Amino acid sequence: MRAVDIIIKKRDKKELTSQEIEFFIQGFTKGDIPDYQASAFAMAVLLNGMTPFETTDLTLAMAKSGQVLDLSKIVDFAVDKHSSGGVGDKTSISVMPMVAACGLPVGKMSGRGLGFSGGTVDKLESIPGYRVDLSTDEFKKQLKEKGIVVTGQSLDLAPADGKLYAIRDVTGTVQSMPLIASSIMSKKIATGVQAIVLDVKTGLGAFMQTLEEARELGELMVDIGRLAGRKTVALLSDMNQPLGSAVGNALETIEAIELLRGRAPKDYYEHCLHVTAHVFVIGQRAKDLDEGRAMAEKCIADGSALEKLRVLVQAQGGDVSYVDDISKFERAKYIEVVPSPRSGFISQVHARLVGEASVALGAGRAKKGDSIDHAVGFLIYKKVGDKVEAGEPLFEIHANSAEKLAEARAAVLSAHAFSDEFVSPLPLFYE
Ligand code: URA
Repeated sequence: MRAVDIIIKKRDKKELTSQEIEFFIQGFTKGDIPDYQASAFAMAVLLNGMTPFETTDLTLAMAKSGQVLDLSKIVDFAVDKHSSGGVGDKTSISVMPMVAACGLPVGKMSGRGLGFSGGTVDKLESIPGYRVDLSTDEFKKQLKEKGIVVTGQSLDLAPADGKLYAIRDVTGTVQSMPLIASSIMSKKIATGVQAIVLDVKTGLGAFMQTLEEARELGELMVDIGRLAGRKTVALLSDMNQPLGSAVGNALETIEAIELLRGRAPKDYYEHCLHVTAHVFVIGQRAKDLDEGRAMAEKCIADGSALEKLRVLVQAQGGDVSYVDDISKFERAKYIEVVPSPRSGFISQVHARLVGEASVALGAGRAKKGDSIDHAVGFLIYKKVGDKVEAGEPLFEIHANSAEKLAEARAAVLSAHAFSDEFVSPLPLFYE
């Protein structure tokens, strides 16, 4: 078998066999198949798609590219929550500590920023010292002892996804249903969690723009999860506008920490509580969503979720004083509040344009391995349906260059649309 023939077969819209997919993924993981062939393969998949059988084979091949953990020997039941990617989506940083605070172990392998969407690992690295490169043994030990782990792609868990993910980020091959489904589910299968809540985003700032596509992605991932023996549920949530207020790594981490003090934008708070409630239900800690939500509210009110975040940060080598003093986070050199150019109702805050503007400020990567700027980003003050007066603060820019600040101002102003008529707020969840 030759890698080039597999690429050509996919380019010509033919269905790949399990053996061909396994050969490609194994060769790529070992370094026998170079990045340029993997990029061509990813582009062929993006353009021509994969059948559900091929996607399942790709997922299993990527999961098996490293170790597949059996967590049942370590904890009774471990859960995870994963987003399909969005703008301002710092949900994991708030949800994971809430879940663990209620005694349900959470073991998570997260990604870096991907295209215009942010990544949990990049966000957590805005806390100095926070390690995202735990070994498998460290992952297992921390899960057993602390009940919470949020790490990056390690060398020995789904390494094929780690390598392909970095390539997709910079080759325009993010937005592909089979690549997203296999990327997410290979990580979940490799970490060995028994139950998974998938937050599938839909809208302008999501990789799946329509509800139909998001539903298809959700169903595909749920099917793969079940096939691999994992309890899996998918929620379809809105990503037409950024979630919460903060967009950018340190700003989002701050917002996620503040939620655990009960201080968060309403949409972000409601989103996190709903996701957490689902995790409690699938993890058999709550009989229904109402009970799950009450548990989430309690662990915020009694401080146990915040304490769990401290435990997580400390266990992974991060400077835990950042959790208690958010003024310590790196600040950008230029901070500007942009006033609304007119009065009216906000009818759009185009999430992808805001995400792309954040990447342009330096919060994301242009090439594989680029370093990122943790301090830059935005605070979005008004959401769809809000009333705004001309001159009232609309958003805030955090930039490290005057030139980039000016570009960001224009880009994010153009992401906003206004209406003279009343506009209904967007729903948080669709299904
Ligand atoms: N999250 C992932 O882990 N992978 C994707 O491809 C998209 C979101």
